[in-house]
Amino acid sequence: MELAHRATILTPSLTLAIDSKAKAMKAEGIDVCSFGAGEPDCDTPEHIKAAAMASLDGGFTKYTPSSGIPELRQAIADKFKADNGIDYKPSQIIVSNGAKHSCYNAVLAVCEPGDEVIIPAPYWLSYPEMVRLAGGEPVIVQTTEENDWKMTPEDFESAMTPRTKMVIINSPGNPTGSVYSKKELEALVEIAATEDIFILSDEIYEKLTYDGAKHVSVASLSKTAYDLTITVNGFSKAYAMTGWRLGYLAAPEPIAKAIDAIQSHSTSNPCSFAQQGGLAALKGDQTAVEEMRQEFDLRRQYMIQRLGTIERVSVVEPKGAFYVLANISKFGLNSTDFAEQLLAKHHVAVVPGVAFGDDRTIRLSYATGLDIIKKGLDRLEEFCKSL
Ligand SMILES: Cc1ncc(COP(=O)(O)O)c(C=O)c1O
Repeated sequence: MELAHRATILTPSLTLAIDSKAKAMKAEGIDVCSFGAGEPDCDTPEHIKAAAMASLDGGFTKYTPSSGIPELRQAIADKFKADNGIDYKPSQIIVSNGAKHSCYNAVLAVCEPGDEVIIPAPYWLSYPEMVRLAGGEPVIVQTTEENDWKMTPEDFESAMTPRTKMVIINSPGNPTGSVYSKKELEALVEIAATEDIFILSDEIYEKLTYDGAKHVSVASLSKTAYDLTITVNGFSKAYAMTGWRLGYLAAPEPIAKAIDAIQSHSTSNPCSFAQQGGLAALKGDQTAVEEMRQEFDLRRQYMIQRLGTIERVSVVEPKGAFYVLANISKFGLNSTDFAEQLLAKHHVAVVPGVAFGDDRTIRLSYATGLDIIKKGLDRLEEFCKSL
């Protein structure tokens, strides 16, 4: 039996592998402290759940237009205008089954076999695999702690070739928590514009910024930026709706049209009643978003303060999302060995940085209670002392 080449080149998700090991240990009754979570630990706000339930009760259970219901696309256009200062028409917005799906649709619509896509590392682990699935080639640009894990215009320019079709910018970033400033983004757009390189701007962590860091949407920067950018966002992180599978993108009209066609022949519409929940999320009270952000900020501060006291561990202070990327290279172990030993001996689950293209690091999520964070960091400290 021979599988398609595209199906054989993918790397299985390391995050899921560690997660299932941790879960198996928990099932055996072992007290595991998990820093693996990629999702908020709170429930979806009640008014969002109520809207979805009411729509189910009302029989909103059929196919919808493939790119989403008109009211939701309008609400997303309004959100882009109000929050990000970008003018998109509803026809430029495609609602999909999560921001992951939106990213994949964007890559499929733009990349041809052989095209190169520039991805700054450490990166969200699905980007390179999406590019490979589309037949493209990921070109990884290593960023540095000195530059807060952000790609410089020089890094970008030196990775460009005549085959470069797209660059992916993820701010606030997973796994780094880095937030690009307006000036930094403007400099990257300037480089992209020299060769009309598309920009996939993944803004899923937009609502989670700290310490006065401000999220800036790439497409808001200029007409040039707008014309080159596909903006991805969604409901998973801001509204604790990971299981609902609801995300969206906005793009110049011809790209949106192409993505509409791709989606109509692959997945059709996102879940009908989840869309009603999404509508309530955007139109309803935003208090829960800010409360969650403040809670994350407390945990973030605690975590960076504690990690800063552990010898041979170094961190760049994250300004967004809910992750801390810690450099553990001084212990002489690669990230997988470090993570496996930490889990086996001290029952702490972290994600090895090799999953994100950086084997010197581990990722700790603070989307978990402060009590678990305290206990887990005590154990991590003990493990580090033992090495
Ligand atoms: C950077 C980034 N983009 C996109 C996603 C996917 O979000 P969704 O649940 O909306 O598919 C994630 C989820 O972890 C993420 O970290």
